[in-house]
Amino acid sequence: MVSPGPLGAHNWQPMSYSPQTGLVYIPGQESVGVYYPDPNFKFTPGYWNTSVTVGRRPPLAEGQAPAPRPSAIKEPEGADQQPKATGRFLLAWDPVAEKERWRIVDNGPAIRAAYGASIGGGTLATAGNLVFQGATAYNAQTGEKLWQSDLGGVNVTPVTFMLDGKQYVSLLGGPVTTSHLFTFVLDGKAPMPGTAVSANAPANADPKTLVARVCSRCHSLEVVTNSKMDRNTWTNTVNTMVSRGAAANAAEIGIIADYLARTYPLQ
Ligand code: HEC
Repeated sequence: MVSPGPLGAHNWQPMSYSPQTGLVYIPGQESVGVYYPDPNFKFTPGYWNTSVTVGRRPPLAEGQAPAPRPSAIKEPEGADQQPKATGRFLLAWDPVAEKERWRIVDNGPAIRAAYGASIGGGTLATAGNLVFQGATAYNAQTGEKLWQSDLGGVNVTPVTFMLDGKQYVSLLGGPVTTSHLFTFVLDGKAPMPGTAVSANAPANADPKTLVARVCSRCHSLEVVTNSKMDRNTWTNTVNTMVSRGAAANAAEIGIIADYLARTYPLQ
């Protein structure tokens, strides 16, 4: 078990700097990676040759058993006395004093970045003493939350621009596969377009192709096709994978769960 996990304590999401506050605004996350040796490992060109069970591995030979999965990991004694450190945070860092000024943990509605549920979006600092992370704005000096909008999914780093004397903030929101560009202005009156319709747009791939595309990005497809589960467990598994970053909209999630429950039922 290694912390931070494969996504690191800070990933590609842009940080920002405010010359007014002298602070740097860093999107970070507490994460853990569990690595497990692959007893079937043998070097195969074209695959991830890490010899652990994560990543794209060659198909199993006939009759070969899949790698056993790690069972639940027992917390060490006294762990319950320690502060729980999980999930994403927004950190205001003073680079001159080398000190943390404030930190916001689990800031707002789910921000689902492409690689997992626990990463916050990139930050934008403005001359108006604001710092934005996704569709949330904070007082850049104190970290006080001032504004928030739920865009129903991913929140990519906002940008700001002036047009005819007005300042706008734009960012992408909505489900991973069907995100929309939203633009905010202080005296804006237009109704917010919904994201629900596009989130349920019918998927136009046959289920098998869909599963291969969506479910083989992080681990081998055999992790899926070697499993047998009842319908509920499949639905929960698919939802867990989506929360980890598998790119599927609501309609595709339904199609995938249906297909897996039919094709790989509990026997
Ligand atoms: C964004 C990365 C990602 C994608 C995409 C993904 N998974 Fe996973 N999946 C993981 C991780 C991480 C694990 C745990 C490590 C492992 O077993 O390799 C995992 C494990 C599993 C397991 C083993 C069960 C368990 O609890 O250990 C199953 C079954 C599974 N995934 C099914 C799916 C299905 C079905 C899809 C497509 C809907 C999918 N995965 C797509 C990240 C992903």
